[in-house]
Amino acid sequence: MEQREQFTTRLGFILAAAGSAIGLGAIWKFPYIAGQNGGGAFLIIFLIFTFILGLPLLLAEFTIGRTAQQDAVNSFKHIAPKTKWYGIGILGMVTCFILLSFYSVIGGWIIIYLIKAITGGLNGLSSQQYASVFEHTIANPVVSLSVQFIFILFTIFVVAKGVQKGIERASSIMMPALTILFIILVIRAITLDGAAGGISFLFQPDFSKVTSKTILEAMGQSFFTLSVGVSVMITYSSYLPKQQSLPKSAFSIVGMNIAIVLLAGLAIFPAVFSFGLAPDAGPVLLFHVLPTIFSQLPFGMVFFVAFLIVFLFAALTSAFSMLEIIVSVISKGEQAKRKKWAWIIGIAIFIFGVPSALSYSLLSDFTLFDKSFFDLADYTVSNILMPFGSLLIAVFVSVKMKKSALFEELKRGSKIKYSVFHVWFFLIRYIAPILIVAVMLDVLGVW
Ligand code: PFF
Repeated sequence: MEQREQFTTRLGFILAAAGSAIGLGAIWKFPYIAGQNGGGAFLIIFLIFTFILGLPLLLAEFTIGRTAQQDAVNSFKHIAPKTKWYGIGILGMVTCFILLSFYSVIGGWIIIYLIKAITGGLNGLSSQQYASVFEHTIANPVVSLSVQFIFILFTIFVVAKGVQKGIERASSIMMPALTILFIILVIRAITLDGAAGGISFLFQPDFSKVTSKTILEAMGQSFFTLSVGVSVMITYSSYLPKQQSLPKSAFSIVGMNIAIVLLAGLAIFPAVFSFGLAPDAGPVLLFHVLPTIFSQLPFGMVFFVAFLIVFLFAALTSAFSMLEIIVSVISKGEQAKRKKWAWIIGIAIFIFGVPSALSYSLLSDFTLFDKSFFDLADYTVSNILMPFGSLLIAVFVSVKMKKSALFEELKRGSKIKYSVFHVWFFLIRYIAPILIVAVMLDVLGVW
């Protein structure tokens, strides 16, 4: 058996885990879901879920991963031998498979804009024209499928190369660049005429719009943006040396993630209001708004290209983690098999994702449970599979791991106090399971 690779530094791990967390969830999904769910109220509920569920669960996955130092499936087998708990890892693999199948569609949309911006196809249009150019482009099935395929090819290349070289290197350049470009974007957006409407939309909560669906979506979003509930973070932390602090890592990832969510909100909503666009436009929202904000900046297209490149990186580092967890289980950590399986699984995901890519063209009239194929895949992953996986992980940690062993693992390399540990354990053992079940039953109309 080859020796398992490890991240060379704490920074390498943080960047890779943060790379998995920060992606389309914060930048593309948050603005569009908040836009459909009343803005500020959604933001507050999302933040509450992030602190009482997302963060504790992230720490739970880190603890499992570093205790077991195995992949998503074998970690469970190692901690609870001869039981079926490893099913959580398999569920995570299935979830990531479906997730990447539609995630890559949006990744493809970024590539479309990148090509258009570089070739000068986006100069000097009005916001309405940008929106219609975009709609027109994604209505072309060949274009949608080609760019989705390119996005998956990038993902396969990196995962086939292996954890250390591929993911760590790619992650270490993109975070600072992303933050700087976002700050520029926010400054432009909040100084537009009429920006105030967007700022109050984001920060003045209107709880009258909150329904059980809003609450479920805010919960799902808190899992989605932190990549929890699918054993990805178990896989990543299994590569982490023992002397690194898990609580510190979890806090910094949550902090960065919230920062990007806020920056995205502050870039998008002021612009939406200023340009008179609809905040509830759905998955296309970001793609309608972005080019218009950039076109209002000096050297706008240059900034737009730079932004799209880091945005693409952010999406890719998340995509790597989805493919990585599947490949690391199937290839059992053997480098030679990794390459082959990265290709096989990657292509299978592309094929499965074809209907999602065509949801805006050939299959635009096709609906199931009142949703397009794309929306159905997204909804199933974000609001059913991820919460369910998170629930199982919380139960697993509470019933299958010894409290003393959990504290030992969390204490390595960190000065976590017993009282803080206790709060975490209480959240995982009682609050997480009760809340997740309550929210899911609420949506089913049980109460
Ligand atoms: N956290 C990623 C994002 O916000 O874009 C999405 C994600 C990545 C979810 C990896 C789950 C996962 F395993």
